[in-house]
Amino acid sequence: MSFPAERPRRLRRSERLRALVRETRVTPEQLIYPLFVAPGEGLRREIPSLPGCFHLSVDQAAKEAREVESLGIAGVILFGLPAGKDAAGSEGYAEDGVVQKAVRAIRAACRDLLVITDVCLCEYTSHGHCGVVADSEVQNDPTLELLARMAVSHARAGAHVVAPSDMMDGRVAAIRKGLDAAGLADTPILSYAAKYASAFYGPFREAADSAPQFGDRRGYQMDPANVREALREVRLDVEEGADIVMVKPALPYLDVIRAVKEACDRPVAAYNVSGEYAMVKAAAARGWVDEERIVKETLTSIRRAGADVILTYHAKDFARWS
Ligand code: PBG
Repeated sequence: MSFPAERPRRLRRSERLRALVRETRVTPEQLIYPLFVAPGEGLRREIPSLPGCFHLSVDQAAKEAREVESLGIAGVILFGLPAGKDAAGSEGYAEDGVVQKAVRAIRAACRDLLVITDVCLCEYTSHGHCGVVADSEVQNDPTLELLARMAVSHARAGAHVVAPSDMMDGRVAAIRKGLDAAGLADTPILSYAAKYASAFYGPFREAADSAPQFGDRRGYQMDPANVREALREVRLDVEEGADIVMVKPALPYLDVIRAVKEACDRPVAAYNVSGEYAMVKAAAARGWVDEERIVKETLTSIRRAGADVILTYHAKDFARWS
């Protein structure tokens, strides 16, 4: 039976009908909003490469977090701009580091907003790489202990979830072991399991001042051409104890999100990264695209591909529009 009996347009005739049969929904409670925390007080400085996003001192981050919570957004993920950098990224795991302070301030200011922390050394190291460097190479195993210390310091400060983004082998196991040994067995790990070496991180590296000072990240982040390798990375992270697995970036990797969703039984997150955001903002500022429609369509496509959770700089705008 087909046309004229079959007329798919019948179910598109009104918004009521369309909403009734809609297969995919996006709600603010599925979204996580990134915050960039910097030293100082009363600081709220717009990030040129991420219009509408700000460098925030701890007090301002707490204020911003309250607004995010009032918009119904699930949580924030924190990135830090330390006062000083060194070869071992030591401010990243300092008790009174900028992220640790922000976690405490946000937890005190908010009722139940989820506080997630990005666990990675690149914002804290003088060379800008995601691990310890020796002989011009990022050393995998010596990095693991530092990542575990960082995750424990975040969780001790009150982070609800820790999110390693460094792509060292074995880091989920090392972090799980560190958390458990510190009496933090209930802190979940959201692992950036399939994180690609992507040009879409450009605006973030300007925002976080985390561009590598030599070389690039292709020795640890994934080759954009690979999807079967993503399944391997996800399998290993799940075996090591990841509670949620993430694919990053999102839009150029929708096929990877779908493949991960089908291959594993953990919740799947996707990171709609800085370059994806900046392109929309730039085109919208010129009047070339309708920002609200583009953002809704983008987030819907990421959910349709299989993401349960989306990390996105559009979260506040989206929540206001929905
Ligand atoms: C840290 C980290 C990066 C991003 C999240 N965590 C940058 C990178 O790997 O270079 C990118 C986020 C974005 O582009 O929005 N390793």
